[in-house]
Amino acid sequence: MDPARNPFSPGAGTKPRVLAGRDEDIKTAESLARRVSLGNSPRSIMYYGLRGVGKNVILNELEEIYADHDYVSRYVEVAETDDFTVVLSKLVRKLLLEVSRKAQAVELVKKGLRALKSFVVSIPEGPDLKLDVEPLLGVADSGDLQDDLVDLFVTTGEAAEGAGIPIALFIDEAQYLEEDDFSALIASCHRVSQLGLPLVVVCAGLPQIAGLAGEAKSYAERLFDFRPVDSLKPKDAKRALVEPAAEEGMTIDDEVAQIGLDATDGYPYFIQEYGMALWNEASSEQPTLSEAEAAKEEMTRSLDSSFFKVRIDRATTFERKFMRALGSLGSGPQDISEVADVLDRETSSIYPARAQLIHKGLVYSPDHGKIAFAVPHFDKFLDRCYSNQDETQRDFFINDDI
Ligand SMILES: Nc1ncnc2c1ncn2[C@@H]1O[C@H](COP(=O)(O)OP(=O)(O)OP(=O)(O)O)[C@@H](O)[C@H]1O
Ligand SMILES: [Mg+2]
Repeated sequence: MDPARNPFSPGAGTKPRVLAGRDEDIKTAESLARRVSLGNSPRSIMYYGLRGVGKNVILNELEEIYADHDYVSRYVEVAETDDFTVVLSKLVRKLLLEVSRKAQAVELVKKGLRALKSFVVSIPEGPDLKLDVEPLLGVADSGDLQDDLVDLFVTTGEAAEGAGIPIALFIDEAQYLEEDDFSALIASCHRVSQLGLPLVVVCAGLPQIAGLAGEAKSYAERLFDFRPVDSLKPKDAKRALVEPAAEEGMTIDDEVAQIGLDATDGYPYFIQEYGMALWNEASSEQPTLSEAEAAKEEMTRSLDSSFFKVRIDRATTFERKFMRALGSLGSGPQDISEVADVLDRETSSIYPARAQLIHKGLVYSPDHGKIAFAVPHFDKFLDRCYSNQDETQRDFFINDDI
């Protein structure tokens, strides 16, 4: 089939032709947008899930919905090395300037910008933001992150209220927030919610963000709507595969679809990879079973050389051994003590590697004493690497000696 017409798009945050199985998530976010527009208190949302389940895509979709409701919004992806206060300062500046462009709320926007100036000045080695205002003495300038961020959010929320323009802030990869930053962010959302100000925060990240938020503030579960983003149910996974193809004239029959559903377990990123490979393998509008098998192999090859490889490349030799031990116990969550047993080590001695792997977004702790992969099918990938007898191939993935 003509590759130019291939309707599948494996990528990061790439809008799929068919956004399957996320109606509830969209509905929740839409009703929050409407509630806040009507002057009700915001309740922020946290989407959490494994790599490639479609968190970005949901946030992108929400940005469009919030724009339709006349919000001013900004999306930010936190990086591992980012200073969150700096990221946030730049974001708030852009939001306030956009509010001021759209509405006449000169004094309140100016107050917001002055609070931002105070906030920035009190960050050690803070960013050099262009702000032609004087700091607002006594607001957001205490040097205590939580107090100052609360002040910044409140003045920003008041500017939004005064201008009649609600604000939405989308924070992706929230697992990279330090505990203090998370704590301050939650306290700020709390205050904004208590005051009924039109400032909505939507976060997304790996599964540990639910726990991180709870640890940071015990009231987090009342303040945020925690929404798991998971693999797609079979019916939705099938839609995600069959419908985009049908739009371009390809008929995927039940058996061919089933091969894809079994190979992908309904994980959205894998579905896009399978769909793309199937389209490329197909010699006609009706792909055959053998073309489906070839597509499955092509999907695996493509995942191994990109999706999985970039992740394994970030782990040290011992971290790889740790993950290998984890994968050898099965695909679900495992006891950290059992991982230690496989490695023939004391549990306490593998904690640093565990912490590093969590930090790198490769594993997470779903429960006390438990550990699981944050990347779906990573155990299968490791099996493939280590069972590969071809040394050069194996070294391509993992240059160590397990
Ligand atoms: N509901 C869906 N239906 C079909 N395809 C989807 C769906 N959600 C996401 N996808 C596709 O899956 C891929 C991954 O999506 P996305 O980047 O949003 O995942 P993510 O959860 O943000 O991943 P990561 O944790 O790695 O950042 C994209 O190619 C996207 O088009
Ligand atoms: Mg993402």
